[in-house]
Amino acid sequence: MPADQILTIFGASGDLTERKLIPALYALKQRGLLPENFAVLGTGRTKMTDEEFRKKIESKGEEYDNDFLAMLHYMPLDPLDPENYYKLREKLRKLDHNMRVKGNYIFYLATPPLLYETVAEGLAAAGLNHNEAEGGFKKLVIEKPFGYSLETAKKLNQVLQLYFDESQLYRIDHYLGKETAQNILVFRFANGIFEPLWNRNYIDHIQITSAESIGVENRGGYYDTAGALRDMVQNHLLELVALAAMEPPAGFDADSIRNETVKVFQSIKPLSSNDIKNNVIRGQYIASKIKGEEIAAYRSEKGVDPASRTETFVALKFFIDNWRWGGIPFFIRTGKRLPTRVTEIVVRFKNTPHRLFRSIFDDESGPNQLIIRIQPDEGILLRFALKEPGAGYTVKNASLNFHYSSLGEQRLPEAYERLIYDCMMGDSTLYTRGDALEACWKFIDPILNAWKDDPTVKMFGYPAGTWGPEEADGLMNSNGQHWRYPCKNLTDDDNFCEL
Ligand SMILES: NC(=O)c1ccc[n+]([C@@H]2O[C@H](COP(=O)([O-])OP(=O)(O)OC[C@H]3O[C@@H](n4cnc5c(N)ncnc54)[C@H](OP(=O)(O)O)[C@@H]3O)[C@@H](O)[C@H]2O)c1
Repeated sequence: MPADQILTIFGASGDLTERKLIPALYALKQRGLLPENFAVLGTGRTKMTDEEFRKKIESKGEEYDNDFLAMLHYMPLDPLDPENYYKLREKLRKLDHNMRVKGNYIFYLATPPLLYETVAEGLAAAGLNHNEAEGGFKKLVIEKPFGYSLETAKKLNQVLQLYFDESQLYRIDHYLGKETAQNILVFRFANGIFEPLWNRNYIDHIQITSAESIGVENRGGYYDTAGALRDMVQNHLLELVALAAMEPPAGFDADSIRNETVKVFQSIKPLSSNDIKNNVIRGQYIASKIKGEEIAAYRSEKGVDPASRTETFVALKFFIDNWRWGGIPFFIRTGKRLPTRVTEIVVRFKNTPHRLFRSIFDDESGPNQLIIRIQPDEGILLRFALKEPGAGYTVKNASLNFHYSSLGEQRLPEAYERLIYDCMMGDSTLYTRGDALEACWKFIDPILNAWKDDPTVKMFGYPAGTWGPEEADGLMNSNGQHWRYPCKNLTDDDNFCEL
């Protein structure tokens, strides 16, 4: 059980708090995983009493019980006014006095990122950044984006580390909170059969797809300043690469695992300007019709610049220059307005050295693939070759297919549940460390700079509801490599979904 503590949320009047954080806390309470003495102190510029805050949270549909609602408190506070951090300290002292949480405080920054540095400084000025000798801990949780470039990420790290020790910082990547992402490590390091094959000798390539079928919804303004590379690749998808590619850690503690993660990022071969032209494909969705419905182009979305050069799709090929992966390509593809919502890792094993049988595979990717489905319909699919019944030796694809849902009653905890619980427990394994963050930006930064500075780097249009620009297929077309398509283009008549 976590120690008694208070969780202060900055930006508690916002979307993340009511949609993710409070439901996650409630789920923890239902599972008996909240500390005995626990309070949430929401803060924001919006003026609300405790009662009004509880009502606002309650109005969001979920049925929270009274015990839980009584844990919720609120304090109106403008984070830009330095005086307010002293008032916050007083408020925390009062709550602490009643609840005896002994100075154990988590500060969760659910505000726009432009406030991260200000809040960290304000907390430090009021002395709310020091772990206390008699056991009171202070932790700072921050949400992505962690900077917009290598330079801004470094500056953010510097400021945060000026006021807080790295061990007090919890940078959330909610992909790491997903049960299936954590399972990659168990799958790799608890099974004797796969790990011996998990290297350049037996694996042809690894591809990661993270597709969304929706567009930018009402987040056009934010998205237009970010784009797919910053929003998805720099953080979530590179974290998945690390889980798939890392060496076995010395132990299963936060430091051992995060040491291996950072080594993967440091081993990614930097992309030259030619690589960026040839091995990184960016795209933007254009208008199309799906099942009779007109879908607007990205540039016509609310909040988006009509001449925007922001990518809603990116596909890239890169290498990890180390002993295990030398020469083996990794592919990442992500985008909005693709045919379906799916995140999966496909490990494509090499073919047999000699083809003995006539084969009719139902895609062109060869027989042996391991597909780790991160979301939705979490599961693992192993594809292998099987003799078609009847005369002769014709070979077909067959699948072993595990769905988490078949575990029955057991519900998969939401990512935020796991991450908040880990933070309360002081386990930072699933949080991004500062050095890993900078290593990821080091890889991403040259791509962003080339896109900004070099007008010859192309932006391809793709009709909404398709798998992105055709040029993304060109990344793969050597050596019989292909993207896996769990669904056809929605603009085709007969679309289907597998797994
Ligand atoms: N929503 C999500 O699903 C999601 C997912 C991943 C990451 N994030 C990240 O999580 C953070 C919070 O997300 P959110 O969607 O909850 O954001 P949000 O609704 O835009 O903002 C949260 C709160 O911050 C306060 N705020 C906004 N602008 C401010 C300003 N200029 N000065 C002071 N306070 C300001 C507002 O409260 P007051 O007006 O009461 O002060 C607002 O309710 C962001 O960094 C976001 O990037 C969100």
